[in-house]
Order: sequence, then structure tokens, then C-alpha cells
Amino acid sequence: MLEAPILIVDDREENVALLRSILEHAGHTSLHTTTDSSRAVELFEQVHPELVLLDLHMPEPDGFAILRQLEALTGPDDYLPVFVITAELDEHARQEALSLGAKDFITKPVNATEMVLRMRNLLHARLLHTRERQMNETLERKVAERTRELEEAQFEILDRLALVGDFRDDATGQHARRVATSAMLVARSIGLPAGQANLYRWAAGLHDIGKIAIPDSILLKPGPLTVDEFEEVKMHTQIGAQVLSGSRFPILELARLIAFTHHERWDGRGYMGMAGEDIPLPGRIVAVCDVFDALVHERPYKHAWRVEDALAEIDRQRGKMFEPRVADAFLALPRAVHCTVRRAA
Ligand SMILES: [Fe+2]
Repeated sequence: MLEAPILIVDDREENVALLRSILEHAGHTSLHTTTDSSRAVELFEQVHPELVLLDLHMPEPDGFAILRQLEALTGPDDYLPVFVITAELDEHARQEALSLGAKDFITKPVNATEMVLRMRNLLHARLLHTRERQMNETLERKVAERTRELEEAQFEILDRLALVGDFRDDATGQHARRVATSAMLVARSIGLPAGQANLYRWAAGLHDIGKIAIPDSILLKPGPLTVDEFEEVKMHTQIGAQVLSGSRFPILELARLIAFTHHERWDGRGYMGMAGEDIPLPGRIVAVCDVFDALVHERPYKHAWRVEDALAEIDRQRGKMFEPRVADAFLALPRAVHCTVRRAA
């Protein structure tokens, strides 16, 4: 506490000398003084004092003006002890000084012992306040760290769950991730807020999670499916939605919506016959990304299309399979993204 920087502002040289000698005698080692009140704030910003000894009656700026300036410089959470040393003060002036942030008074001529003891109290209060603030900051940092870790764990679990789904019917095991990445880019490009669009990066990967309940004999069948088999494949949207339903977390609710509606078509000829804007936007977005990815990769029942041919198909299906705005956003993604999707095979 004795090393704490202390700033003394008093326009009279002899007062400054007296205060300096009292404080030095009491063991304080970091004293900064000025008799020019116009330099007080500048000095304050240089030395960052733990306590300010301030005279009120000085040529402009007087002590009240300096209190106002210090008040503006210190944050609402700061505790800056300003110790006012002055001649007799009327009640109004005392109240004004207190309201401007003065923490204690002592009248001239000062009693050295009393002044030093009161200063110690103020420095102690400042120390406790600083410790409390540091503890709060450490706590806030730890909470933020833990929250980030939990969020990362949540994302990683979703990503790995998507991988589980992919192992059923995708040779690369990367279909879900590719669709999720392009869905996030489309969501951003059509103007969804970044926080919401970023959820697609994880939620869209679960679009086919319902396929875990579809038998291999159907899922991996090289030839065309019978009507019954196709009806069974169609169940994967409802099974996926069931698996993901009932969560209070927005990311899982988004995943449910995507799993349920990603095979709907803008023209109403999809799995459940929803059409146009009745199809939730997440389903409309993932529909385009899913079809493109399926086209450019080999499947048991088809060869891989060239990127240009797949893009032309997306364009042809604009307004039929896909919402025009979403198809346009997908087609307008940087060429590198379409090709990255292809190369990931
Ligand atoms: Fe699907």
C-alpha cells in the first residue's frame, strides 16, 4: 500500500511541500504533485494514481472542475478515492463534492495522523475493490471459456453423429459435412444473421440421420427401387425428425426441421407435398445443397456428374424443385466452393 501512486493537486507550493513531507514520513514512496491545476488530469492519466489528494479552492480549473473531469475518466465500476483537503467548507459545497466523487474530507490545517489514517482506509477500500474486480474478471473469463468448450463439445458431437449417418450410405463419409458447409454458405448469402447461418454448419449435417433405420438392402441397392422400397426410403425424413424432436436447443430444432423437410420441392412434388413458402426455409436451403452433392458424387445407382452439368441441373430445377432465390444463391457461391464440394470425393 505504501508504494501506491498518490497524486497531490494543490495550487500552493507550501501546502504541497507539507503534504509531501507528511506522506514521506508515513512511508509513502510514490508521490506525484502539481501546483498547476490545469495539469491535474494530464498527470492523472500518466501516473494512474491509487488516490488523489485534491484542494478545492484553486484558480480555474478548481477542485470541483477536476472532480468532474476525473468522474468522466473513471468508469462506473471504478473506485477512485479522491481525498479533499480544503479550508472550511459549507454544507452545499461538501454535498456537491461528494456527489462528484469525493470520498473523504479533511480541513486545513490538517492533522497529519488523522489524514494518514483516513488515507489508509481509502487505499484499503480501493485495494478491496480492485481485488473484487479482478476476481470478477477472472470468473467471467472462466465462465466464457467453459461456455465455449461446451459449445465446441456440442458441435463436435453433432458432427460425429452426422458421420454415423454418413457411414450407412456414403462411400466418402463426408456427404453430411459437405452439405452442411454449403448450406451454411447459402444461408449467409441469402442474408440470414451470421449466428443463425452458422448453426447450419452443424444442424444440416444431420439431414439424413433417419437413414440409420433404413435397411442396407434398400439403401445400398444398385438398381432402381420398387415402389414399396422407395416408400421405405422416404421414411428417413420422418425417422430423422423423430430422433431430433423435443429438444429445447435451437440447433437441434433446426436439425429436426431440416431432416423433416429436405426432400420437399418448391412445386409441391416432394415427399410430403409441401409447396412454396410452406416448406420451412432450412428445408429449402438444404434441398439444393443435398441434390447438388448427390449429383456430383457416385452413388450405388448412379455415376458422378461433372460440376458444370450438376450446376446446369440446379438451374433447370430453379422454380421447380428449388426456390428460385435459394437456387440462385447456391449457383452464385464462389466457383471454388462448388469445386471443393466435388473434390472432397
Ligand atoms: Fe435425405
